[in-house]
Amino acid sequence: MEKAYLRTFGGAPEYTYALDQIRYKSEDGRLLEVCNPIPSFSDQEIADLKQVFDLRLFSRNPIDKSGVWRYREFLPAYRPFENVITMYEGNTPVYVMPQCASYTGMKELLVKHQGQNPTGSFKDNGMTTAVTMAKKLGAHMVACASTGNTSASMAAYAARARMRSIVFIPEGQIAYGKLSQALDYGALTIQISGDFDKAMDIVQDVCARGNIYLLNSINPFRIEGQKTIMIELLHQLEWESPDWIIVPGGNLGNSSSFGKAFSELVACGFLKKVPRMAIIQAEGANPLYTGFTSGDRALHPVHAATRATAIKIGNPVSFDKAFFALDITKGIVEQVSEEEIAIAKSRIGADGVGSEPASATTVAGCKKLVEKGTIKPDEKVVCILTGHLLKDPDYTVEFHKDELFSDAHYTSTVSGTQKIDTKGLSNKPVSLPADVDAILEFIAKRT
Ligand code: F0G
Repeated sequence: MEKAYLRTFGGAPEYTYALDQIRYKSEDGRLLEVCNPIPSFSDQEIADLKQVFDLRLFSRNPIDKSGVWRYREFLPAYRPFENVITMYEGNTPVYVMPQCASYTGMKELLVKHQGQNPTGSFKDNGMTTAVTMAKKLGAHMVACASTGNTSASMAAYAARARMRSIVFIPEGQIAYGKLSQALDYGALTIQISGDFDKAMDIVQDVCARGNIYLLNSINPFRIEGQKTIMIELLHQLEWESPDWIIVPGGNLGNSSSFGKAFSELVACGFLKKVPRMAIIQAEGANPLYTGFTSGDRALHPVHAATRATAIKIGNPVSFDKAFFALDITKGIVEQVSEEEIAIAKSRIGADGVGSEPASATTVAGCKKLVEKGTIKPDEKVVCILTGHLLKDPDYTVEFHKDELFSDAHYTSTVSGTQKIDTKGLSNKPVSLPADVDAILEFIAKRT
């Protein structure tokens, strides 16, 4: 059987490396990707494999129970699948969202809630494969820079693998839910003065000089696991591609991995129709949007500013891979304002689902793309909700107290965005005396 290997992303000159070489870039500084020897499947083999995936849903074997390793035929780099570090990640639900559908102008809208992962974000899909590889390579110490979710996920998986973890976070700029996770899972937590992009620069140097294994999505073994978000979604949709996938764009690892998933699934004959992908960025952190709409496909880093702190990234490491993903999905990029994010988030809440702010860019982007006529109301659209509501409770409480866009918070982070009144959507807590009559009178008035 042919073996997987690492190669330079983006064509000639192509450098190749064995999987056990610890490196994240080629000698000419380009990103690496795992080249997977996935055979071409006959129609019968495809039908058999789909049945295997179904049967694994009832298995008690940990690697069958995991929504990542269940699809291990598409992860040959980790053969023979021994000593896998899994927390039964993936297995995330697809919900029908009537409130969001009516808000966006769609007949129906689906979300896949990656926030239902063990540490509350999609990062777990990539962390199980990356930490499994780290263990295989004999790493004792792992590190990442993070806007919060990567650090939470890495810290958890490293703890399960009994490895030391070090996280680099921009001081004061990550949500408390995420910080609390990194601390509780035992990560050495280093707050850097500066933003995420600065922390990303620093962690790469620290890892190179300190013999520490780097687990940001620049690590190609992260991208492999995140491919299964799309494979599991297709399985849930009975292997029928939707018309559109909508995903938030930050460091652009997730959108890159979706592109890789589709390209491999098509190449081996498993998938016939590739969905179109829309990547949505916050207006204040929009280098992909700018590179896409200007047509120059070049990365012009920005000083990022958004309350959706997960995607507060101005110099994304997977920029080139994201363009490949856009090419193979006939994809597009859209940007949304702070208010659009906040309102869309409240609609996700109104469906009883909830998400963190960055995830709400997808519903906000969907509305914008329906208004522009790019997405048709009767198309099948799946928004990827990337993180759980409880990751960033401050944001939600401020929104409902009508404080999110108060000057102190808002103008200090984002300027130039058109203000929209969000007050009608807030659900302020009320204070009442401990008096049953007064409480009943109040309830009668409000219902
Ligand atoms: N949504 C959430 C909730 C995230 O945490 C992130 C990224 C994204 C979207 C964007 O995904 O970077 O693959 O384009 N969070 C990273 C972190 C950067 O450090 O947790 P991306």
